[in-house]
Amino acid sequence: MVKRLLILGGTSEAAELSHTAAKTFAGRAQVVTSLAGSTRSPRLDLAGGVRRGGFGGIEGLSRYLRDENIAAVIDATHPFAETISGHAYCACLRTATPLLRLERPAWTLPPAARWVEVATMTAAVEVLGGFARRVFLGIGRKNLAMFTALEEIFFLVRTIDPLPAPPPLARHHALVARPPFAVNDEKALLTEHRIDTVVAKNSGGAAARAKIDAALALDLSVVLIARPAPEPCPTTARLDEALAWLEDVL
Ligand SMILES: NC(=O)c1ccc[n+]([C@@H]2O[C@H](COP(=O)([O-])OP(=O)(O)OC[C@H]3O[C@@H](n4cnc5c(N)ncnc54)[C@H](OP(=O)(O)O)[C@@H]3O)[C@@H](O)[C@H]2O)c1
Repeated sequence: MVKRLLILGGTSEAAELSHTAAKTFAGRAQVVTSLAGSTRSPRLDLAGGVRRGGFGGIEGLSRYLRDENIAAVIDATHPFAETISGHAYCACLRTATPLLRLERPAWTLPPAARWVEVATMTAAVEVLGGFARRVFLGIGRKNLAMFTALEEIFFLVRTIDPLPAPPPLARHHALVARPPFAVNDEKALLTEHRIDTVVAKNSGGAAARAKIDAALALDLSVVLIARPAPEPCPTTARLDEALAWLEDVL
């Protein structure tokens, strides 16, 4: 009987896995990728089925796993998508569904560069007040309001989709653009806006790294926000290991 694999997606790793798994397990397993539905025009170069939108918390995801007869889940969501990862962990425990986390490695930066990694977004706000004047804020759209009190700082804000309303920042310029970005283009952007500090989540991966490399090349300061704590499930950064895990559980 054909089994069903659920990939929790929204990342390039999830897209790549969907293709490789669909090919490797053709005739043995159906692949379904789940997207949150929060991006207006998500990547649709996925193999197998696609579903969109939340499941309705742990309860909803548990029900989905049972109703859809899911044999295994790979959580390939973004390292900062901690709510869905937590829900996946709990729902898989409840339903005894095997779960693997596929997560790209975090970035490490040269020790000599001017960078600091802080534990939370709140800590990033605190450190910025001390030295930054013109900041590139590459953190997505969710947490912009946390920077409201920094009225003296100019923020260059970049999001994938247009913001529904201007960000609550006294001095800012909002840009809309979709990764990947080239290091030279990022350097030009940082120079044009006379940026002195880049703030980013430690997302890892090549697509978002260009802004960091550009900042380091221009000798700017970098404030990285550390990843949230991972769920205690089997984890790999490697696609071949994810496929080997699937061979075992499917
Ligand atoms: N956070 C980032 O910086 C970031 C960056 C790039 C891409 N993404 C991608 O964007 C999506 C949303 O990220 P987020 O940080 O907003 O997530 P989140 O805070 O962890 O999740 C919020 C809610 O969105 C729903 N959800 C999230 N990912 C889902 C998925 N793959 N399939 C179905 N429902 C999902 C769940 O709703 P229910 O509780 O109703 O199930 C979840 O409770 C994720 O798929 C993630 O991989 C996030």
